[in-house]
Amino acid sequence: MLAAIIAGTSTGVYAQQKVLNLYTARHYQTDEALYTGFTKQTGIAINRIEGGEDALFERIKNEGANSPADVFITVDIGRIWRADQAGIFAPVKSAVLEARIPASYRDPAGNWFGFSARARVIAYNKAAVKAGELANYEDLADPKWKNAVCIRTSTHPYNLSLMASLIAHNGEARTEEWVKGLTANLARSPKGGDTDQLMGAAAGECKIAVANTYYIARLMRSARPNEKAAAEKLGLVFPNQASRGTHMNISGGGMLKNAPHKDAAVKFLEYLAGDEAQRYFAEGNNEWPTVRGVKISNPALAAMGEFKADAINVAQLGNNQPAAQRIADRVGFK
Ligand SMILES: [Fe+2]
Repeated sequence: MLAAIIAGTSTGVYAQQKVLNLYTARHYQTDEALYTGFTKQTGIAINRIEGGEDALFERIKNEGANSPADVFITVDIGRIWRADQAGIFAPVKSAVLEARIPASYRDPAGNWFGFSARARVIAYNKAAVKAGELANYEDLADPKWKNAVCIRTSTHPYNLSLMASLIAHNGEARTEEWVKGLTANLARSPKGGDTDQLMGAAAGECKIAVANTYYIARLMRSARPNEKAAAEKLGLVFPNQASRGTHMNISGGGMLKNAPHKDAAVKFLEYLAGDEAQRYFAEGNNEWPTVRGVKISNPALAAMGEFKADAINVAQLGNNQPAAQRIADRVGFK
């Protein structure tokens, strides 16, 4: 299937066919409905290539000018920013996207757009930590929490983006001190994903875990009794409510510079910003729509309640990625 598309794009004949070649690092079953919905609405068929976040990005780079990819969707601003730095996106000027996606969740130049949002929050073992003892990301560096914190490795984009957010608000020097304090508070050497940190906190191996909200929602909605029980042991803090708000990240993407089907690509991006797609896109992974006012039905997100989200443009978090990496390296936060 893909071979036919690759062969076809160079002739120009197939480029006029009503197809869209989508490279996506999202692989949630519920996303399926989203693609069907687009085809129904526009008559444009979607050829979907799924892969790991880094593998797909490498593939697009390697394919270069011959890439059949029209749209690339991935997760975390760190990865989106890296893709943008590599020059693979083309700017999209769309009144629909500009009206629908809040400015903080899209590239000012139009190279990429955020379609769903996640918060990076603090979970705590309710038997070990009292509600109100933790309020801010800055608290994670407090010596009071020595041997208390579980967090995945610093080199992961989620943590680079969190550090990038602290750099944006507190500056590099203070963020370096914070990372030092956080590293000194680790309950164990960083290993595993966000779920492992949450399970660690629930099991009492650490008092506090740092995780993206959809991992917590996933445990809350899990059919596995041990995961459901773990979620019940955890309390949740949306950090920095009295100040800048909780650090937010996005899943999103953009149209590729070498896209053979540019009209279809813009249509697809606009479709992703529509109510129906926003619901599918967010609910499939327990995220929030980036478009305001879209009603979603998700008991776990509803239980988490309302919170103040940091309004900083996530592009700034991209720009701070190299500085975040340098700090992690200097401090020795693995
Ligand atoms: Fe994730």
